[in-house]
Amino acid sequence: LSRPDVIGMTPLSSSATRAPYHKEPNPYGEARAATLDDIARVQDDYATAARNAIRAGFDGVQLHGANGYLIDQFLRDGTNHRDDDYGGSPENRIRFMRESVARVADAIGAGRTGIRLSPNGETQGADDSDPASVFVPAAAALDALGIAFLELREQGPDGTFGKSDVPKLSPEIRKVFKGPLVLNQDYDGAGAQADLDSGVADAIAFGRKYIANPDLVERLRQGAPLNQDDPKTWYSKGREGYTDYPALETQDA
Ligand SMILES: Cc1cc2nc3c(=O)[nH]c(=O)nc-3n(C[C@H](O)[C@H](O)[C@H](O)COP(=O)(O)O)c2cc1C
Repeated sequence: LSRPDVIGMTPLSSSATRAPYHKEPNPYGEARAATLDDIARVQDDYATAARNAIRAGFDGVQLHGANGYLIDQFLRDGTNHRDDDYGGSPENRIRFMRESVARVADAIGAGRTGIRLSPNGETQGADDSDPASVFVPAAAALDALGIAFLELREQGPDGTFGKSDVPKLSPEIRKVFKGPLVLNQDYDGAGAQADLDSGVADAIAFGRKYIANPDLVERLRQGAPLNQDDPKTWYSKGREGYTDYPALETQDA
């Protein structure tokens, strides 16, 4: 899932696949299947990037294992067609994620290492024929590594940022991942509290509501109404869409 015209090279994936695009021409290139040397180099890169992030003052690093990106391309059988140690069985498809997370944990400490996964439903061309068979053992492998947190982006049937009828796996993952489990997508304050109360999640991650509400926590605490985000300014330049959503006190005034 990358554009050769932007990165200046053929993208790397688990197998030679090409991500779909919502219109023609599709700017994504067909990927090249990673060799074992590529895999070793990418894992060195993860460790170096994590060390650099800590050196730059970040508290920790979250690997991107969701949404059809590289780790996800290894996890799911729709994109991973390899027949070596990194493909085939769920155990093999988990290997790239497990080794990469372990490398980052070795570099900066497991307590500073997190990862994001998107187990249910298709995203950006990545999908699996039996998500539970790979994502539940993947979560167990992450539990064994003792990482700081696991975040799941899960689509519901009525999702407003991608939707899926494939059941959410968080209840199954909760049983095998004992560390902090963070859930995401389409939450409001009441829904977030319900999933904290039921114990399926330890924390909820907000995306669009945070874009539109600089004081989101205070608004949720008070049960105050939320500003609606404006997709037209999601990727705008300058302050519009970034610093011009009002906080409660300016709105009250
Ligand atoms: C403008 C914008 C950019 C995003 N960029 C990324 C991204 O780079 N990587 C990612 O994993 N998710 C990205 N997301 C998805 C969010 O992380 C989140 O999963 C999504 O917004 C659903 O959560 P929400 O319902 O709380 O908004 C982006 C979302 C928005 C609105």
